[in-house]
Amino acid sequence: GSNQMWGGRFAQGPSAIMREINASIPFDKALWKQDIAASKAHVAMLGACGIVSADDAATIAGGLDAVAAEYEADGVPEDWDLEDIHMTTESRLAQLIGPAAGRLHTARSRNDQVATDFRLWVRDAIDQADAGLEALQIALVERAGEHAGSIMPGFTHLQTAQPVTLGHHLMAYYEMIGRDRSRFADARVRMNRCPLGSAALAGTGFPIDRFMTADALGFAGPTANSLDSVSDRDFALDYLMAASQCALHLSRLAEEFIIWASQPFGFVTLPDSLSTGSSIMPQKKNPDAAELVRGHSGRIAGCLTSLMMTMKGLPLAYSKDMQDDKPPVFEAAGLLALSIAAMTGMVGETVFRTPRMRAAAELGFATATDLADWLVREADIPFREAHHITGAAVKLAEGQGVALDQLQLDALKEIDSRIDARVFTALSVEASVAARKSHGGTAPEQVRLRVADARAALGLG
Ligand code: ARG
Repeated sequence: GSNQMWGGRFAQGPSAIMREINASIPFDKALWKQDIAASKAHVAMLGACGIVSADDAATIAGGLDAVAAEYEADGVPEDWDLEDIHMTTESRLAQLIGPAAGRLHTARSRNDQVATDFRLWVRDAIDQADAGLEALQIALVERAGEHAGSIMPGFTHLQTAQPVTLGHHLMAYYEMIGRDRSRFADARVRMNRCPLGSAALAGTGFPIDRFMTADALGFAGPTANSLDSVSDRDFALDYLMAASQCALHLSRLAEEFIIWASQPFGFVTLPDSLSTGSSIMPQKKNPDAAELVRGHSGRIAGCLTSLMMTMKGLPLAYSKDMQDDKPPVFEAAGLLALSIAAMTGMVGETVFRTPRMRAAAELGFATATDLADWLVREADIPFREAHHITGAAVKLAEGQGVALDQLQLDALKEIDSRIDARVFTALSVEASVAARKSHGGTAPEQVRLRVADARAALGLG
């Protein structure tokens, strides 16, 4: 037979293929809570504006609560003939309360309905991501405070560059996650306008109050253009962009844990709870959670690309292509939530092997810049020349197989007579990090200041 919602003008119903390709209920049932909330706001407004009777409005609202209770208890039924969550709910409402149910769809369309539901869902996803990221920041700040003075090698090109403190390294991720949170917050403000009442595309002739529904659903106000309202998926793209950027950060942190946990590094012992073993090699403890966070970041970026490709070139207003907007957003949100939780556990529970880190910081002539800086400061040598002198000292030390601070003073004086015994105080890794107390530098005192700022920002005691 033909469709009970829209089949009036059809002689024949859709084919099996049509029903299957058209059905979004398998995934958009995830919107049921938002769909019920938006319908309740809509019908309350219809009642208040005298568009449906107070009796009908109350009956419909009660019926929607009953449908919600069924969904809560038994899940949402998947009937492809009912296409999506909107028609599934309306159809069940009609079974429960009878013909009054048919008045709910006055002055609205599935186009503004889905735009509203989806915004509500994405808004919740942002709030969840923010809560998770705050927990990750707290873990980072706690560990950074513990390790404000723990020295490790800092790298560029993954080659030893200069000594840094582990606290400083962890606080770098605190900053990244802070920017991620602000991107999500920006997206939330921008998306927080209610499309409901835009109807199919042109608005409606019924005397609705869009400010009332917007307010009831926690939006800052209604959207300004009905065509834009039903066509816009920028809010989902903004979310996916913020999620992708965040996932990239998590992936870089995950990669560092993977490197640090490798035997040649041995900087960390990962928690057993976030590692797995090998079915053949009994000694193995693999950083699978970190590897999956690294992997998931690619999938999340793929979700962003997917929705960008869906939206590209769509004419106004709604096209059914846009039904494909939800799977990538749902997928990305799930992957991101898991990634945030995994990295929070890893940051909180990893054992940092600070003696190994300290020993590694001694390798690779990490304090060569400090020698050059000393020549500038104490002997008034231009930096470029000091760089050259230091290069000769590194060459000598490398040839002798010793660290810079193990060179004989005579040998150093032979390279440049202006060097004297005080230079050795500048060549230890402790002196190196302590010297870098420029704002935002790696000196333990600077790290402690930044940790204190962060603790205050997070409301920690
Ligand atoms: N299931 C649809 C979606 O997710 C709802 C909107 C349908 N609108 C329409 N005109 N067919 O996009």
